[in-house]
Amino acid sequence: MPVSAVAADRSVCAPLPVLGRDVLVPLVTGGEVDYAALDYAASAPALQRVWDDVAAYAPYYGSVHRGAGYLSQLSTDLFENARGTVADFLGCRADDQVVFTRSTTDSLNLLAAALPRGTRVFVFETEHHASLLPWEHRADLAVTYLNAPRTPRQAVDTLDKALAAREPYGPALVCVTGASNVTGELWPVRELAAAAHAHGARLVLDAAQLAPHHPVDIADLDVDWVAFSGHKLYAPFGAGVLAGRADWLQQAEPYLAGGGASRKVARRTDGGVDVEWHTTAARHEAGSPNVIGAYAIASACRALTEAGFAGLVAREQELIAAVRAGLAEVPEVRVLSLFGEDAPRVGVLSFVVEGWNSSHFAAALSAEYGIGVRDGLFCAHPLVRTLLGGAPQDPGECGAPEAAPGERSLNAIRVSFGAGTPDEHVARFVRAVKELVTNGARWNYRTEEGRCVPAPSRA
Ligand SMILES: Cc1ncc(COP(=O)(O)O)c(C=O)c1O
Repeated sequence: MPVSAVAADRSVCAPLPVLGRDVLVPLVTGGEVDYAALDYAASAPALQRVWDDVAAYAPYYGSVHRGAGYLSQLSTDLFENARGTVADFLGCRADDQVVFTRSTTDSLNLLAAALPRGTRVFVFETEHHASLLPWEHRADLAVTYLNAPRTPRQAVDTLDKALAAREPYGPALVCVTGASNVTGELWPVRELAAAAHAHGARLVLDAAQLAPHHPVDIADLDVDWVAFSGHKLYAPFGAGVLAGRADWLQQAEPYLAGGGASRKVARRTDGGVDVEWHTTAARHEAGSPNVIGAYAIASACRALTEAGFAGLVAREQELIAAVRAGLAEVPEVRVLSLFGEDAPRVGVLSFVVEGWNSSHFAAALSAEYGIGVRDGLFCAHPLVRTLLGGAPQDPGECGAPEAAPGERSLNAIRVSFGAGTPDEHVARFVRAVKELVTNGARWNYRTEEGRCVPAPSRA
């Protein structure tokens, strides 16, 4: 469903309660202010509901899949039920499997390890490194890197041509992000999946930035796998998900060898060991599973579903509009975009400020306004290089502007928000950008171990 369609039919949600909403942080200029967490794209704060669910379960915590005791059985049920909740959240097909991993990175590495020998992989150079790099780990995979498209249509055409040019091939996989962690722009996932399938390839959706902001429906989008991380979905307890087609996963060697993944192990007469591996999701979950992480993800899935994505999306679109309108009033600010102004997006925006070192700017937002954003290349170096127009380099000392007026910046600033963000945080951010650009920083800063820090650190 396009974002506009989701937003149209329901009213705007109130912010969902998240942990940390009352945390005060010191300002270098004196006093304290409540922390404006505007780095959701890195890790979102825990939903209060997730925290409450985990706290309520914690006394009942027990070993999963192993114990005969009551709490072990309860924990095993919760863990297995969490798969069902995630499957519902993602609109999985009946025969899809939900594997609990550590994160999106882990999920994509698992899938890379499970690909049939010689699989051809197609991936845009614009991907987060978690989607770009796992395929390099296997020498037998043939990876094709696709150039950055400048429109969603061009993305589909580029993929279509690349797939056609290399036919015939055996197994093939396309890996694509749902929403960019740099620009927040939505990718044409449904159309890319259709192009992949038309050429007999499969598609894995990196939903690390999409799932927290927008409904993801595997069956409706007709993608083969989806990967996401709990800590970006308001459930920061160390778990992630890989969900989708069972066949390649079950034909592959287990991701990790060990207990939990093995059904039967016996010594052979020749002295070796015979192993019968599970053919369920457990095949790739060797070792004691992260039951609290899985339970927390399931809790977040329920909370977001109950809050309703239509209202959440509508609210987020209002916040995006406020940030964009505010930044548009500052001529020194350039918002980075691959697909252009009108591209549908989630609440993730990166920008550069003419004459400012991005690290310096981000440090001033933190130290003088209590606003947490991120600066750098956001683990998507080729994309940020394309958007900035050159090779990423050492950004240099933060005290000095990295780029004189008219010169290109070496890294960027990213602001990101979501279901727990109050209007005031976004308003404070816009005001802070305007004040910093107009008046300059009120404090001195220096570079310490590669980070820009206030000097001195307190008033
Ligand atoms: C689009 C995208 N994919 C993958 C990842 C990796 O997620 P994780 O660090 O949770 O493995 C990120 C993290 O920022 C991301 O933004």
